[in-house]
Amino acid sequence: MNLKPLEHLAIIMDGNGRWASLKRKPRVYGHVKGTKVAKQIITDCSRLGIKHLTLYAFSTENWFRPQAEVSFLMNILRRYLKRETSNLIKENIKFSIIGDMNRLPKDVVETVKESMLATSHCTGLHLVFAISYGSQQEITQAAKNLGKALLDGNLKLDEVTPEVFNRFLSSYPTPAPDLIIRTSGEKRLSNFLLWQAAYSEFYFTDKLWPDFTKDDLMQALDSFSLRKRRFGGVSENLENSLELNSGSNEVATH
Ligand code: FPP
Repeated sequence: MNLKPLEHLAIIMDGNGRWASLKRKPRVYGHVKGTKVAKQIITDCSRLGIKHLTLYAFSTENWFRPQAEVSFLMNILRRYLKRETSNLIKENIKFSIIGDMNRLPKDVVETVKESMLATSHCTGLHLVFAISYGSQQEITQAAKNLGKALLDGNLKLDEVTPEVFNRFLSSYPTPAPDLIIRTSGEKRLSNFLLWQAAYSEFYFTDKLWPDFTKDDLMQALDSFSLRKRRFGGVSENLENSLELNSGSNEVATH
C-alpha cells in the first residue's frame, strides 16, 4: 500500500504497568521494556521519513504515582538521554520537549538541555518528548502569556485568532499531529495535545505498549492512509460531486 504522507505522529504509550502485571513483575519492568520499544519506534519513524514524532512519556498527573515509580521514570529519562544522544545525532534526529520543566529534577533539566543543544543541528526526524506535560496546563499558560502580551501592548485584542493563540503553546512551531496512536485499549486523550488534536486522526489498538511493534506501526499508518481528511471542509470526492450537482448548496461535513 502507498502510505499517505504524514508530517506529525503522536503516540500515547500506554499499558506498561498492565503488561508487567500480566507477567507477575513489578510495574517498572514494563517501563523498561516500554523504553526499548520506544527506541525502536523512534528509529522506525526516522527511517520512514516522518517529520515530527511526539511521545507522551510522563504526564502532569503521573507525578501522583508512588515516589519510587516517579524516580524510576526520571532515571529512565536521564539514562535514555545520556546513552542515546549520540545515536540521535547519528540518525540526524533533533530532540526537544514540551511540558513543565520546572517540576523536573535539576540534573534531568540539564540533561534535556544538553541533548537539545547537541541535536539542534539535525535536520531529520524531530523527536518531542512530552514530559511533565498536561494540555490543560499548557493552554492555561498560553492564555496567561497571551494576556500579558495584550496588557503590555504587544498584541491587540482584534489580532487574537486561533493561529495567533497557537503561537503561545509550548508545542509551537511543531504542526498539529496528523495521527495520534494510543495503545492498551483505552480510548481517550488523557490531557494530551487537546488544542492540537482538533483535526487529528485517531488510531486505537488493544496492544499494550511493550508489545507494540513495527508491524503495528505500519498498520496504524495504513489505516491513516485510508482516512479521508476534510478539516471541517469538503473532501476532494465530495467537492467533485458538489461541482457536478451544481445548484446543491450542501456544505461541510466534519
Ligand atoms: C503508561 O503506562 C506509560 C507511562 C506512564 C510512561 C511511558 C514511558 C515509557 C514508555 C518510557 C519512557 C520512554 C523513553 C524513551 C524515555 P502505564 O504505567 O500507565 O501502564 P498501565 O496503564 O498499564 O498502568
